[in-house]
Amino acid sequence: MKGLILSGGAGTRLRPITHTSAKQLVPIANKPILFYGIEDMVAAGIDEIGIVVGDTAEEIVAAVGDGSKFGARVTYIPQDAPLGLAHCVRIARDFLGDDDFVMYLGDNMLQQGLAEFVDEFESARARDGADAPAAQILLAHVDDPTQFGVAAVNEVGEVLYLVEKPADPPSDLALVGVYLFDAEIHTAVASIEPSARGELEITDAIQWLLEHGHRVRHEVLRGWWIDTGKKDPLLDCNRLVLETLQGRNDGKVDEASTIEGSVVIEAGGEIIGSRVRGPAIIGERTRVVNSYIGPFTSVAADCEVVDSEVEHSVVLSGSRILGIDRLTDSLVGRQVEVVRSDRRPHALRLMLGDHSKVELD
Ligand code: G1P
Repeated sequence: MKGLILSGGAGTRLRPITHTSAKQLVPIANKPILFYGIEDMVAAGIDEIGIVVGDTAEEIVAAVGDGSKFGARVTYIPQDAPLGLAHCVRIARDFLGDDDFVMYLGDNMLQQGLAEFVDEFESARARDGADAPAAQILLAHVDDPTQFGVAAVNEVGEVLYLVEKPADPPSDLALVGVYLFDAEIHTAVASIEPSARGELEITDAIQWLLEHGHRVRHEVLRGWWIDTGKKDPLLDCNRLVLETLQGRNDGKVDEASTIEGSVVIEAGGEIIGSRVRGPAIIGERTRVVNSYIGPFTSVAADCEVVDSEVEHSVVLSGSRILGIDRLTDSLVGRQVEVVRSDRRPHALRLMLGDHSKVELD
């Protein structure tokens, strides 16, 4: 079994946050989202992984390398334009050969691992002979199915049909961004036409399998699933992962500081005259001085938090937060400065990247 991870440029949702910054590299508990997917694959015994890369290829390659640090072999598959998830399968044809594979949308995070999901597909394929499933999908109950691919399932649990972003959904069961396929999918992706949004939809390719007499197995997700492409789900996900971390201190905490609950302080991290209330993680070489770091906060490496209070937030590497009374529910990018200044006239002075959002009280 091989793995195919879609890291960028795949479809509209997988577009980068900015031209130079891949959202799949935004850290959750100080580890890039994409790494959780790679680690999940390796844990499920899949070590030959293709990563489809778009505009942010350079950044992804720099972070993942040849995959050896994960115990995997990574092949990069460049995609010229975001033409859809099924288009990614088309361009990965040579890499995939006729092997079964798992396809994973690089900005999805699941609580459940992949191992069992893969095992169940493999045993169904070994057991069911001519009736073996050609694909396996993962479904989750969602509040607004119109935003997703949706499955109609009958009382005995067979998938009847799938429809992408339906105005009138047949159920509340959305397709989660993890799919298993055998080589039949290549005929399917070659046979479908672009959707109304101009993309080759993987949902349409699976529907093609159903219409051509192939079985599609499904499972309903256990635990949480988050599409981390947006700020609030990203903060939620950070919270869920931080809750699972064991506290440890590989840095320095001075006597005037207090640490409460489970807090990870990475090597070279320094807490001076401050209070940190977990769950929280403080990255390598990050200095927290005369400040309060509240629960559900991840501060990445090489940051400075001085005379400030930060809570329920994710701060990426190399950023400085100085003299800010209260920063909460925020995502702060890399090398960002948030400072209070006495300059006149009193005003907000901003330099905001693409897709920024600022809320002022
Ligand atoms: C894609 C798929 C959709 C699926 C979703 C999962 O949607 O097309 O079927 O439910 O991923 O996150 P997109 O976000 O690209 O619109």
